[in-house]
Amino acid sequence: MNYGCGTTIQPTELTGLPTVLYIGVGGGLEALQFAYICRRPSAVIAINPVAEMRETATRNLLLAAKENDWFDPDFVKILDGDAFALPVSDASIDVVAQNCLFNICVFLWQ
Ligand SMILES: C[S@@+](CC[C@H](N)C(=O)[O-])C[C@H]1O[C@@H](n2cnc3c(N)ncnc32)[C@H](O)[C@@H]1O
Repeated sequence: MNYGCGTTIQPTELTGLPTVLYIGVGGGLEALQFAYICRRPSAVIAINPVAEMRETATRNLLLAAKENDWFDPDFVKILDGDAFALPVSDASIDVVAQNCLFNICVFLWQ
């Protein structure tokens, strides 16, 4: 479920229930971790250009919903998307994160 380096989730930086864009969802673990903090429908928009990875993340998040009472799969919206052509509109995102796609970094806009 996880192919990243360390973690990009810093709960103390995630104030005000942000909308998170997660680039390169992989197996979905960090999308799940962001959802733990944000907890509302489509709070995490997770993109990946590879259909098999989107399917894997969807499967893992359905499994996570069975094992975690707090988690609703609707908290994470998984989209076909590329880091170089983001499928979101301007000013619609509060936090952008990725792990082991470019390198480890989290951008915060407030
Ligand atoms: C090393 S994995 C890391 C996955 C996840 N971030 C994690 O921490 O487990 C890199 C992910 O980036 C995805 N990816 C590759 N090229 C991409 C691109 N141009 N835009 C978005 N995601 C991409 C891959 O399909 C893969 O799921």
